[in-house]
Amino acid sequence: MAVSIVVGTHWGDEGKGKIVDYLGENAQVVARAQGGNNAGHTVIVEGEKYVFHLLPSGVLHPGKVGILGDGMVVDPSSLLGEIDFLRQKGKDVSERLFLSSKAHLVLPYHRILDGIYENIRGGRKLGTTGKGIGPAYEDKVSRWGIRVGDLEDEKLFAQKLRVTLDYKNLLLERAFNQPPLPYDKILEDYLGYASLLRPYIADTSKMIYQFYREGKNILIEGAQGTMLDLDHGTYPFVTSSYPVVAGSLLGVGLGLGSISNLEVLGVCKAYTTRVGEGPFPTELQEEMGDYLRDKGGEYGATTGRPRRCGWLDGVILRYAARINGITSLALTKLDVLGGIDSLKVCRAYLVEGEEVDDFPVSSHLWDKCEPVYEEMEGWEEDISSVSSYYDLPSSAQRFVEFIEDFMQIPIAIVSVGKERRNTLVRKEIF
Ligand code: GDP
Ligand code: IMO
Ligand code: MG
Repeated sequence: MAVSIVVGTHWGDEGKGKIVDYLGENAQVVARAQGGNNAGHTVIVEGEKYVFHLLPSGVLHPGKVGILGDGMVVDPSSLLGEIDFLRQKGKDVSERLFLSSKAHLVLPYHRILDGIYENIRGGRKLGTTGKGIGPAYEDKVSRWGIRVGDLEDEKLFAQKLRVTLDYKNLLLERAFNQPPLPYDKILEDYLGYASLLRPYIADTSKMIYQFYREGKNILIEGAQGTMLDLDHGTYPFVTSSYPVVAGSLLGVGLGLGSISNLEVLGVCKAYTTRVGEGPFPTELQEEMGDYLRDKGGEYGATTGRPRRCGWLDGVILRYAARINGITSLALTKLDVLGGIDSLKVCRAYLVEGEEVDDFPVSSHLWDKCEPVYEEMEGWEEDISSVSSYYDLPSSAQRFVEFIEDFMQIPIAIVSVGKERRNTLVRKEIF
């Protein structure tokens, strides 16, 4: 009986989906805790590709219970589309999927407002995924939100929608000069979703607690990454939820004091990427950035946007370890670094002439962070078919061990390719 939380160490897309799918084998319950369909988690098994946006990646394994937790914002049509997609692939999750009644619904005005806010920001736009995530969380905090549980009572849902839509239409028409949204159409659509989603709605926090008490292994899949966290990330260039570990516990409704066996697995890519706007100290503008993007296939799993690429930022990795209390690391995409003569890892920043080894809290310093690099010899070989860590070229092992030494945290998993089988285990997690 254990709880493992998988958390992204940088700006998302670290390969969390692949690692969760791998670990899912030995878990009985897999849960998402926060975020919505802004996430795009890719799993590839025997050439078959699955991109999860709302469902936890571990549900690919037959019989695993899948949970969409309290802290999520759920776009019902996106969720139903994912369930259908899996059904078509012969993976029926309907008997083992549960959706928190406390999760919030994404409604059509959230997506529209997401676009309007970005337009108003102009040159200071955030580069959101456009899925309505920020506006949905904004409504949650300002208590305009409509929750999944509200779908269980048609009359109550209709009343809540009426009041909220009146307010949103006021905003759309008077503040933003946009046409109002039709109440009847939205009501009809959402009551349709309600009839399909009703069987999944549950008190998932209570379920998780009971599963844990029964001795089951619980795997929580963080979405986004530490630097996209609303409090701890590069605000305002962040998402609107809490991707850090504390947010995962909050988002599944599990109290830290009830867990005696917690593993926090930080998923870190062997280089760093970011999609969307905001600071990125180790970003590479020149040829090497393009090389990493092409070789690593660094295009958003949700929006298809090219990801910005740079050397591994060890300062941020250390920051993520502290904020999340990371107990083990998974290092992904090591294969992508093959064929580069000299590799770099950022171990500190020079900020206004002074060397600092922690991520500055003051945002005015972020663009002044000049990376201080440790350089290491690369390797030529394609390592994607290696099946044991000790068969890796010695310079690849040195790269892994450098990070391990630098972090003083064990690297439990090294991922050397997209497929589930391209996973080298150095320390068991479950
Ligand atoms: P997530 O959001 O953290 O789950 O990551 P994404 O799925 O958005 O992005 C990771 C990308 O890298 C996906 O296309 C994965 O198929 C791919 N990937 C994951 N691990 C590896 C690896 O070790 N090597 C390679 N070459 N690709 C990987
Ligand atoms: P996974 O789970 C990478 C980024 C967006 C934007 C910012 C705010 O696949 O790692 P939002 O739509 O959330 O309001 O956008 O956050 N972003 C992600 N970047 N991976 C993700 O998820 C992301 N989810 C949001 O690009 O910069
Ligand atoms: Mg992703």
